[in-house]
Amino acid sequence: MTSPTKQASRLSPIQAGQSAENFHSTELRILCTGDGSRTLHSSYYGQTYHSMHGAEHEALHVFLEGTNIAKTLAQQQRASVLEVGFGVGLNFLLTATAAERHGATLHYTGLDRCIPDADTLAALDHGSVAGSCAVAEFLIAWRRHYGPDLPEGHYSLCLENDGLLELVIGEATQVLLPEKRYDAIYLDPFDPRRNPELWTLAFFRLLFAATKPGGVLATYSAAGAVRRGLIAAGFIVERCPGPPGKREYLTAQKPQVAGS
Ligand SMILES: C[S@@+](CC[C@H](N)C(=O)[O-])C[C@H]1O[C@@H](n2cnc3c(N)ncnc32)[C@H](O)[C@@H]1O
Repeated sequence: MTSPTKQASRLSPIQAGQSAENFHSTELRILCTGDGSRTLHSSYYGQTYHSMHGAEHEALHVFLEGTNIAKTLAQQQRASVLEVGFGVGLNFLLTATAAERHGATLHYTGLDRCIPDADTLAALDHGSVAGSCAVAEFLIAWRRHYGPDLPEGHYSLCLENDGLLELVIGEATQVLLPEKRYDAIYLDPFDPRRNPELWTLAFFRLLFAATKPGGVLATYSAAGAVRRGLIAAGFIVERCPGPPGKREYLTAQKPQVAGS
């Protein structure tokens, strides 16, 4: 089993829905990663939101390039992305900035049970990392509107070029995902040992059904159990050379002709 890129501590798994009280008293610390971009450390999960070797590098390398979304947007094609674990929105900001730069239409759906408050998002300064302060400020302003606790629910925000950001706040395993909708899936929960409910075969099957034929899922984890689970769900899985500090990560393509 390859070691995870997210900085992890040796703690027992957290089950879905466990101790909401603990979850809401999570302490979030801002840390600087190897490429100068910032991330958060969550006391609840005992892990960082991104690779400590470089948050921006990980996002670009694993998610935008790994799923081919960077190429799709550069070709000015419309793209539909699902992210499991929206977090502070760094993967989103980089994807939305690429879409804006190329005049492409982006439909982006982010799943998360909570998004840190606006002051925390602002302190991460991800707008200057992504090269689009406008998109980052738009996200921060939206988040500020709801105060410290963002209610569970479904939020839709308009993006440039007829694009759309949909945020579904709540337990990700309970979300009804549309079938064959997404060109790309960013699978970015915390480490499988700490966040096991988002790495199960049952959940991978839901993600498989939601992926368009030919669409690609990418994840930073190269763990054997994750690879076997994605294969069992129906994906064609490849180990790819990782970003700095990480030997490999996984991409998983839905075959062009697939059962569901
Ligand atoms: C590693 S962080 C994601 C970082 C993010 N992709 C970014 O670019 O900022 C993992 C996220 O998964 C969320 N998460 C963990 N378990 C979840 C669950 N069962 N349902 C919904 N969200 C969950 C956490 O709240 C956290 O924001």
